[in-house]
Amino acid sequence: MRLVFLGPPGAGKGTQAKRLVEALGVIHVSTGDMLRAAVAEGTELGKAAKGFMDAGALVPDEVVVGIVAERLQAPDAEAGVLLDGFPRTIPQAEALDAILGEAGTPLDKVALLEVADALIVERITGRRTDPETGKIYHMTFDPPPAEVADRVQQRGDDTEDKVRARLEAYHAQTAPLVPYYEAQGKLVRVDGVGDMDAVTERLLASLKG
Ligand code: AP5
Repeated sequence: MRLVFLGPPGAGKGTQAKRLVEALGVIHVSTGDMLRAAVAEGTELGKAAKGFMDAGALVPDEVVVGIVAERLQAPDAEAGVLLDGFPRTIPQAEALDAILGEAGTPLDKVALLEVADALIVERITGRRTDPETGKIYHMTFDPPPAEVADRVQQRGDDTEDKVRARLEAYHAQTAPLVPYYEAQGKLVRVDGVGDMDAVTERLLASLKG
């Protein structure tokens, strides 16, 4: 199975991907996680990406397409993949179609996790991540338990002004992927608001159905 999670920042793509990979028998490929790891390691990729990420802007297509193409060639990607945060522009989507087409394993479905802009700022500014396990929490909606509360971290781009820049980038550059995948008959819309378990069930039902 080859799947894409599409949706605005804070829609719950990472939260739901971590819950679903096992049930779907796929690996989780998050371009945001890969780029943040490269920044933390200080690699050339990280140096090239950091300024864009700090500004809440998209990293150039050729940089992101390169890291995804390489990741998809790894043996563990053969069984199936859930792409979270990629593609984010029409050129990225066209590159992905070409890569998967050449491999003879086209995309199966694209799940659009729908959450209104009005809810996004609260979700993003309350997010905390456990650096040891990668688990995502929210200070109000899913608070970290006492034993990890001291070590959870806030992402540098999770401030209110940067969220607004990221939302603008989403509407200008990523939202055009909705009609792109609708035209391919691959888009499923999933309500991303409400109880996290209920969102997981909705996603499972629309991806398997
Ligand atoms: P990336 O890491 O992909 O960020 P994003 O798309 O902005 O998405 P987020 O990680 O912020 O949100 P999410 O949907 O995963 O939400 P989450 O599950 O954490 O990208 C970061 C940057 O990298 C970009 O700005 C760009 O610079 C660069 N980049 C990455 N990919 C790129 C690409 N392809 N091209 C170019 N540049 C790229 O949930 C958010 C919070 O809400 C959490 O606290 C969670 O607990 C909570 N929550 C989740 N579900 C619910 C619910 N149902 N109810 C209440 N709270 C909930």
